[in-house]
Amino acid sequence: MKLIAGNSNLTLSKAIAKRLGANLTDAEIRRFSDSEVFVEIQENVRGEDVFVVQSTSSPANDHLMELLIIIDALSRASASRITAVMPYFGYARQDRKAGPRTPISAKLVANLITTAGADRVLTLDLHAGQIQGFFDIPTDNLFAVKDIKEHILSAFHQDKESLCVVSPDVGGVVRARALANRLGGVPLAIVDKRRPRAGVSEVMNIIGEVEGLNCVLFDDIIDSGGTLCNAAEALMEQGAKSVCAYVTHGVLSGDAVERIEQTAALRRLIVTDSIEATAAFKASPKTEQLSVAALLGEAIRRIAHEESVSSLFD
Ligand code: R5P
Repeated sequence: MKLIAGNSNLTLSKAIAKRLGANLTDAEIRRFSDSEVFVEIQENVRGEDVFVVQSTSSPANDHLMELLIIIDALSRASASRITAVMPYFGYARQDRKAGPRTPISAKLVANLITTAGADRVLTLDLHAGQIQGFFDIPTDNLFAVKDIKEHILSAFHQDKESLCVVSPDVGGVVRARALANRLGGVPLAIVDKRRPRAGVSEVMNIIGEVEGLNCVLFDDIIDSGGTLCNAAEALMEQGAKSVCAYVTHGVLSGDAVERIEQTAALRRLIVTDSIEATAAFKASPKTEQLSVAALLGEAIRRIAHEESVSSLFD
């Protein structure tokens, strides 16, 4: 088995390699002066089962192009099986025609990855599970919920009875309910969110009882931070005791970290390391990263040994 890292998240790639007791395969990824990506795999991969770790996080297009070109290089070097390990699958929010004459970019990205030569995809908390159907190759979608549950239980061990899981929008209810169930059936509340235009969100209502409870917002993506900051303020206005947020993918674009720091209602933000943390994130006293290296490493090991991946979540 070989493990190759793109440039998007070297910290996570190294942590996965460590869990697997493997070394990252030597590969040179550099840019021509006009910014074209060039890749040279510097070890023999003929007949190998190769896993390429690359999140298509910001700069999304550069990281996507890197992934495609690494896959192409591996395919032309006769790797026997290529798995695109995408801890964060960018473009996932463009999973349907949002209006007339708009693209379904998540499907296009799936086509590109398949055409480049990937034999399978391993990803984490896809924005919508149906995106697996955009691929005509096997796709394993992992869930961070188990690791998040453990973190919540250690953070709230003395106050578990007062927990409430909150979905920040209607689309996240299934995910939030899964977390509430894993926490032993704690109450679930839902934020009725409206998005008048891209990048702007408004809270219309809170569905469920949150008064006096420690609310745990759970989302797949935090981008501008608007959804979670607005939800935290609305929950505090409804009498919540405290609000913290757990999110799988910390996209955190623009001044999102600053916005979180300035939102007093949101006590804490915990994101996984599916996306490399920025300096602002690391410096913030309100934020924390939770590693999914063990989860991804174990899934890679199971795929390499043809073992069940779904049983990871039993
Ligand atoms: C939307 O459906 C996603 O699950 C997230 O809620 C959204 O991407 C968060 O975006 P922002 O942080 O910009 O409000």
